[in-house]
Amino acid sequence: MKALVLSGGQGTRLRPITSTGAKQLIPVANRPILFYVLDNVARAGLREVGMIISPETGNEIRRVVGSGERWGMNVEYILQDRPGGLAHAVKTARPFLGDSPFVMYLGDNLIGTGIEAFIAKFESAGCAAVILLKEVEDARWFGVAELGPGGRVVRLLEKPRNPPSNLALVGVYVFSPQVHAAIDAIRPSARGELEITDAIQQLIDWNLPVESHVVEGWWLDTGKKDDLLAANTVVLDQWLKSDNQGELDSTSQVTGRVKIGKGSRLVNSRIRGPAIVGENVLIEDSFIGPYSSIGDGTRIRKSVVEHCVVLENCRIDSIDRLEDSVLGKNVTVATNHGSHRALRLLLGDYSAVEL
Ligand code: TTP
Repeated sequence: MKALVLSGGQGTRLRPITSTGAKQLIPVANRPILFYVLDNVARAGLREVGMIISPETGNEIRRVVGSGERWGMNVEYILQDRPGGLAHAVKTARPFLGDSPFVMYLGDNLIGTGIEAFIAKFESAGCAAVILLKEVEDARWFGVAELGPGGRVVRLLEKPRNPPSNLALVGVYVFSPQVHAAIDAIRPSARGELEITDAIQQLIDWNLPVESHVVEGWWLDTGKKDDLLAANTVVLDQWLKSDNQGELDSTSQVTGRVKIGKGSRLVNSRIRGPAIVGENVLIEDSFIGPYSSIGDGTRIRKSVVEHCVVLENCRIDSIDRLEDSVLGKNVTVATNHGSHRALRLLLGDYSAVEL
C-alpha cells in the first residue's frame, strides 16, 4: 500500500497567509499541519509516499519535509502543474502509484485518530474504495455520502442543498487501482476541476463496492482562519505537554499546561495554558492567554494575546488585546498609545500594522 499526500492547491480561502507560503505548512501548536498528516501516514506503516506539490509552494514543502527520513518513509515529490482538482492530482501521480492500492490524504486535514482501522477495512472487504466520513452539524458545506445497508456508499453529493445524511467526506480515502479507470471516464466539473467525488461516483455506477468508515473523534479541515484557530485549540487541548526550557523572572508566572522553547524569556509576564511558546521568544509585561501558539523569535511587549496563532519573528507591542487572530511570519502589530479595543486580525507575512 502506498500513500499519496496532497500538498498542492492554492489555499485561496486563507489568503493572505497563503500568498507567500504553503497552506499545509501553516503551524498548529507550532508544528506544520503537514507533519501531523505524515505522523499518521507513518503510524499506519506506509513507507512509500508520493507528495503532490504545486509550482508555487513545492520547493518550500521539499525543504521542510525533505526525504521523509524523519518519519522513516521515502517521500517522492510529484509536481502538479496546476490545481486541477483532487482527481487530477491522482492522474498526475499515476506513474508513482502504478498498480498499487493507495491511501490518499489531503495535506491540510487533521484527524484525532489513526487511520489503521480504516485501512484494515479496505483490506478485509476487498473494495474499490473506502472513504472516511465524519458526522457534521450542517452538511450543506461538504461532500456528503448517502449510505445503504451495512455502510456501503450509494451516492455522493458535493455541497447539496438538501443533504441526504450528515456524513461529510473527510479528506482521507483508500483506493484500489480501479480508481484510475474511473478518473479517465469523468469530465471536469462546472468549476473546471476533475473531482474525486465524481470518480468515486463512477466506481459506484459501475457497481463496484465502495465502503465507508466513520471517524470517531475530531476532524478539522484547516481551510479558513477560524478552522485553523479551532485546530490549534484542539491540538493544544489534547496533545500539549508542559515543558519549560525557557527563563522566567521572579515576577512572571505560568499556569496550566504550557510549553516554552529554549532561549525564550518571560519578563514580568503571565502565561495561562494550554499555550505554546517557541524558541528565542521574548515576552515582557504581557499576558498570553489560553489557546495561543507563539512562533520562534517573536517579541511581545505590553500586550494581551489570547486564542491566536502567531508565526515566527513577529512583533506585538502595546496591544491591549489581540484575540482570535492569525499572524504570518515577520508581522508587526504595534501602537505607541494603546489600542483600547480587541483586535482580530488575519495578516500575511511581513505585514505591518501601526495603530
Ligand atoms: P482544497 O482545500 O480543496 O483547495 P485549496 O488548497 O486550493 O484551497 P482553497 O479552496 O482555499 O483555494 O484542497 C484540499 C487539499 O488538496 C489541499 O491540501 C490542497 C490539495 N490540492 C492539491 O494538491 N491539488 C489540487 O488540485 C487541489 C484542488 C487541492
